[in-house]
Amino acid sequence: MASHTIFDLNDGNKLPRLGFGLWQVPDEQAPDVVHQAIRTGYRLIDTAAGYGNEEGVGEGISAAGVARTDLFVTTKLASQDHGYDEALKAFDKSLGRLGLAYVDLYLIHWPRPWENRYVETWRAFQRIKQEGRARSIGVSNFTQAHIQRLIDETGVVPAVNQIELHPRFQQKDMRQFHDQLGMVTQSWSPLGRGHLQDNETITELASKYGKSWAQIVIRWHLDNNLSVIPKSITLERIRQNFDVFDFQLALEDVARINKLQSDKGRIGAHPDDIRS
Ligand SMILES: NC(=O)c1ccc[n+]([C@@H]2O[C@H](COP(=O)([O-])OP(=O)(O)OC[C@H]3O[C@@H](n4cnc5c(N)ncnc54)[C@H](OP(=O)(O)O)[C@@H]3O)[C@@H](O)[C@H]2O)c1
Repeated sequence: MASHTIFDLNDGNKLPRLGFGLWQVPDEQAPDVVHQAIRTGYRLIDTAAGYGNEEGVGEGISAAGVARTDLFVTTKLASQDHGYDEALKAFDKSLGRLGLAYVDLYLIHWPRPWENRYVETWRAFQRIKQEGRARSIGVSNFTQAHIQRLIDETGVVPAVNQIELHPRFQQKDMRQFHDQLGMVTQSWSPLGRGHLQDNETITELASKYGKSWAQIVIRWHLDNNLSVIPKSITLERIRQNFDVFDFQLALEDVARINKLQSDKGRIGAHPDDIRS
């Protein structure tokens, strides 16, 4: 992997900047989609126990025939599996479904603060990392307060926080907080789940650069030093979304997109509220 396509994580490991998301990809479709993504050049594959497609993802990885050491596989702990013993058991099941000896990154999917168990879950994650079965560990949908508590009580800083992030919901405070801790910010729903395709600024920039609206948005993430994991089940889009390393946005165009931030931009749930 070329240096402009990877991040150095705070634990010494490396993370591809652009990856492939698999939320809402059915298990039976996952083998083909993952195979296509890997053939296209994606090396970071993002799934979760909660997506119900870890088996299909594992099949796709195996069928692609790329060396395991060249791939970066992320999965996440399902919300109902918080707790020390529960997390260890859930991790074993995820590895079994994926058919892998290790994952590159294991994330706590949601903090569920009302259960008050995410710190003990984090201790289980540290054990999994010490055993080498997850090379890196991190969190998803954690607020600053949640992350600070993990650090205060265990001394271990997550490598990554995967959060909702796109031009209409830019999470500037969280990004700054992560930067101070040496954590990578990874953007979920980076394309705003397709909602940005009719935005005037994005459309204008697409015609200026001769790129699609999605390529402009993915480039905005990369030019903001974010890791980004767009999802598509459409081969032409899978390819298009990876074809973003031959251009960069000018600073003034990044600034134009930065202005799209909106108080109503959040698409998903607030981490303190979600009950799923
Ligand atoms: N940690 C979390 O809580 C969390 C939450 C949400 C998502 N995620 C992760 O982030 C990944 C991405 O987020 P997401 O799936 O919510 O949304 P997204 O990547 O922002 O958008 C996906 C949607 O955009 C469409 N699309 C993709 N590329 C396109 C292109 N080039 N042109 C036009 N349309 C395009 C896709 O359609 P088709 O598929 O029909 O082509 C799909 O409807 C997920 O798959 C998952 O891995 C994590």
